[in-house]
Amino acid sequence: MGKIIAIHSYKGGTGKTLFSVNLATTIALKGKKACLLDMDFRAPSLHAILKIKNIECWLNDYLNGTCPIEKVLVELPEMSNGGGKFLIGLANPSTEAIRDMSAKDRKWEMRALGRILSLRNSILDEMGIDYLIFDTSPGLQYSSINAIVSADIVFVISTVDTSDVQGTRRMLTELYDLFEKKTYMILNKVLIDINSKHGKEELSEKLGNTHTLPIFEIVPCFCDILKAGGNYIVAKEKPDHFFSKVLIRMTEKLEHL
Ligand SMILES: Nc1ncnc2c1ncn2[C@@H]1O[C@H](COP(=O)(O)OP(=O)(O)O)[C@@H](O)[C@H]1O
Ligand SMILES: [Mg+2]
Repeated sequence: MGKIIAIHSYKGGTGKTLFSVNLATTIALKGKKACLLDMDFRAPSLHAILKIKNIECWLNDYLNGTCPIEKVLVELPEMSNGGGKFLIGLANPSTEAIRDMSAKDRKWEMRALGRILSLRNSILDEMGIDYLIFDTSPGLQYSSINAIVSADIVFVISTVDTSDVQGTRRMLTELYDLFEKKTYMILNKVLIDINSKHGKEELSEKLGNTHTLPIFEIVPCFCDILKAGGNYIVAKEKPDHFFSKVLIRMTEKLEHL
């Protein structure tokens, strides 16, 4: 049976999109079926990263009830291997659509939640997808809460910056604890040598002892990834990269969750 993963954070720029797209790619390259949905309606970015043009239907249209999910999903065969599949559903990046999505009322959001919940049946059960991944907006956006509510597993990505750590800790009590999902923390862009005793102490000092989310991975900041500015998919173009190996380890751990 397939699983739904929401990738979320308190702040923007922590690495949600980088992890979402590389996790989906790693899964598909391993011969499994992945579907990635851009739920960051405030700052859509997957269309640019995956260089997809000529979209017939956006995820916005599905949530508005004007397009079936089958028409939203685009398959990228070059992103998978040996029986795997990579499907993507994009958020509309036009200014008009971004404005429209941020003006939705509670009633619309409730209907949207119903549509997101029904993806378990349509995407996981009927299409036989192994992992449905939601790339979300940071913070307490309705669309992100809906994604978390619908998920089995939540990855919370945080840097070790004080404001990020404190914000993430607040969201733990105000958001994640409420839904009792399998929630894990990914510490990203870490510039501390965590293999040394001094580094370990520095990290635990930065996190404080009230941080209770289990840590799934601690990932360094890679200059080459930063420099590439999202121009290529690391897991596909650089399979020997440390980051790609982290992703492979993540997919192995995911199988046992
Ligand atoms: N571990 C990392 N090392 C280097 N660059 C990273 C790392 N994680 C994220 N980035 C870069 O940081 C920027 C913001 O990441 P992104 O995934 O777009 O964040 P978010 O989706 O959370 O806003 C991107 O340019 C991304 O490539
Ligand atoms: Mg993003």
